[in-house]
Amino acid sequence: MSKENPVKLQDNSQQRRILVTSALPYANGSIHIGHMLEHIQTDIWSRFQKLRGHQCIAVCADDTHGTPIMLRAQKEGISPEEFIAATQAEHVKDFEDFLVCYDNYHSTHSEENRELCELIYNRLNDAGHIARRTISQLYDPEKKMFLPDRFVKGECPKCGSEDQYGDNCDNCSATYSPTELKNPKSAVSGATPVLKDSEHFFFKLTDFEAMLKTWTRDGHVQEQIANKLDEWFDAGLQEWDISRDAPYFGFEIPGAKDKFFYVWVDAPMGYMASFKNLCDKTDGLDFDSFWNPESDTEVHHFIGKDIVYFHTLFWPAMLDGSGFRKPTKVHAHGFLTVNGTKMSKSKGTFVKARTYLDHLDPEYLRYYFMAKLNHRVDDFDLNLEDFVSRNNSDLVNKYINIGSRVAKFMSKNFDLELCDDISEHPLIKEYQDAAEPIAQFYEQKQYGRAIKEIMNLAGKANQYIDAEVPWLKIKDEETQNEVHQLCTVSLNLFKILTVYLKPAIPSIAKKVEEFLNIPPLKWSDAFSVLENHKINKFKPMLDRVDPKKLEAMIEEGKEEAEAANQPQLTDPLKDEIEFKDFDKVDLRIVKIIKAEHVEGAEKLLKLQLDLDGVVKQVFAGIKSAYSPEDLEGKLTVMVANLAPRKMRFGVSEGMVLAAGPGGKDLWILNPDEGAQPGMRVK
Ligand code: 2FM
Ligand code: ZN
Repeated sequence: MSKENPVKLQDNSQQRRILVTSALPYANGSIHIGHMLEHIQTDIWSRFQKLRGHQCIAVCADDTHGTPIMLRAQKEGISPEEFIAATQAEHVKDFEDFLVCYDNYHSTHSEENRELCELIYNRLNDAGHIARRTISQLYDPEKKMFLPDRFVKGECPKCGSEDQYGDNCDNCSATYSPTELKNPKSAVSGATPVLKDSEHFFFKLTDFEAMLKTWTRDGHVQEQIANKLDEWFDAGLQEWDISRDAPYFGFEIPGAKDKFFYVWVDAPMGYMASFKNLCDKTDGLDFDSFWNPESDTEVHHFIGKDIVYFHTLFWPAMLDGSGFRKPTKVHAHGFLTVNGTKMSKSKGTFVKARTYLDHLDPEYLRYYFMAKLNHRVDDFDLNLEDFVSRNNSDLVNKYINIGSRVAKFMSKNFDLELCDDISEHPLIKEYQDAAEPIAQFYEQKQYGRAIKEIMNLAGKANQYIDAEVPWLKIKDEETQNEVHQLCTVSLNLFKILTVYLKPAIPSIAKKVEEFLNIPPLKWSDAFSVLENHKINKFKPMLDRVDPKKLEAMIEEGKEEAEAANQPQLTDPLKDEIEFKDFDKVDLRIVKIIKAEHVEGAEKLLKLQLDLDGVVKQVFAGIKSAYSPEDLEGKLTVMVANLAPRKMRFGVSEGMVLAAGPGGKDLWILNPDEGAQPGMRVK
């Protein structure tokens, strides 16, 4: 991924060496806007540190191990390595397009990670921090594998509700162990699981209790987290089961055949592995100087509140027990809600990163997150109306407006040349005085307070322009100089605001740099003044948010949810059916007599199908691959006896069969010309 890493310091303080990470996304799914809340706040923080002239390195990776990924790859008929490579390529592209700039994006399934994992484990084992004992767990006798809790389903032992997972009940919220479920079934094969013994390895977290109690009260975690940790300490720390039996996609435990490290063991080591991988390809970047226990560098982890236990107990304990430094700070954040409620697939608010990007500019979301984030662990609400109004009123009407309002005088009246003698202007001084408080807000992740300050300054620039009435003064030769001065001051203010906003809106900042005809801005440029300097013509920098695009994005989210509710080849419980079940499916040749677009639908076409004189209406998710005119007159195959389903755009009375990975690569079945509508297909 792209690199922006100025290592020269531009302020007077000492240059810090900082390693920053975001939680490693699981490689079994797409990135969604909930992930982006974290990756954007990490990116803003690390861009800020770089802008200040510190050496700041941001790394991330995909979290690739575990049973779900192993099973998904099996279902798709590919190796887990192929599966995770495809997901990683998608993740990297999503982050890049959201302007999230990691200096390295790696994988937990890497040689660096295997070596680190073995090293840390061997050191912990040698120091006596690993215990072994035999435990009994549910085992799938058909698939010959132990079943993780989420892969056992049955009736809730408390309320009797059916089809509940092995760890908690969706209906009554009870938590229990999978052995307590009634009528348990393996979600992998449908078989009834049996109890089976196996030796497991445990990390003795309790050995580190005293160290952790001090560490967690020493400024390394937020206060809300420290309080939560006290509850966990009071409840008593437990030994942690770190092994899983084969078959498992992961790293084998040294000296223990067919035993693998649980995915959560090697996941945080992936932070180190990604950094190691970067060091190995970067001159002068030294792994040990960052990770030795006496290091004067900083390590900052940005994570969600759900994984605090792993990052503030297991992770520092494993590092401490194996002779590495511990994190400087773990920054936890809350979950993303949309319009006040949990992201929901059926409401279309569970928006994938790519779906967002297909409709809206990434800097709207970056700015919105920046404008509302704080240093606390509370949930973050993306309110869609507020999203539109904040972007339009702050970014477009207040900030960019400063540049665009004076640009026309600059090109029409002053040949794009700034004047001089403005550096003592009181507004410039006021803007410069705000640099340190704003920097402190960034440093403490009080981004919302930084924006409040910045937009307050932007408001003052607009008032100043209003008060000077340049549109009147420009008409009188005697006052034209004043307009020239106003333009020069305003563009300097615009430049300073751009310095302050650059971590959040790097691409707009780049457009401002081109407009002002200056090299990439650094934090210290807030203190330099542009005078007697030629600028370039103003070009539009950001459109207002169009609420229609936002609506279209939500609609697409709903369609994606509907598509995901279609029968899935990969659903483990639907693997095999009996012949009698297959025989129920009435597959028929049909002729497509009409195909048309559906207003407001991104993926669907509406088809009228002739089934030997009977006309059926079917909505098919094939718009990415076919235009309506390509389809009319073609024969295809439909499931004719599917119960009609009410969809948002109308009733669908069947399904047409199609094959392919999706997008443009999707083909409807296309029987020979000799086939006739109505013929049965089996
Ligand atoms: O919760 C998650 O999405 C995990 N994949 C995060 C791992 S973070 C780190 F420890 F690797
Ligand atoms: Zn229940």
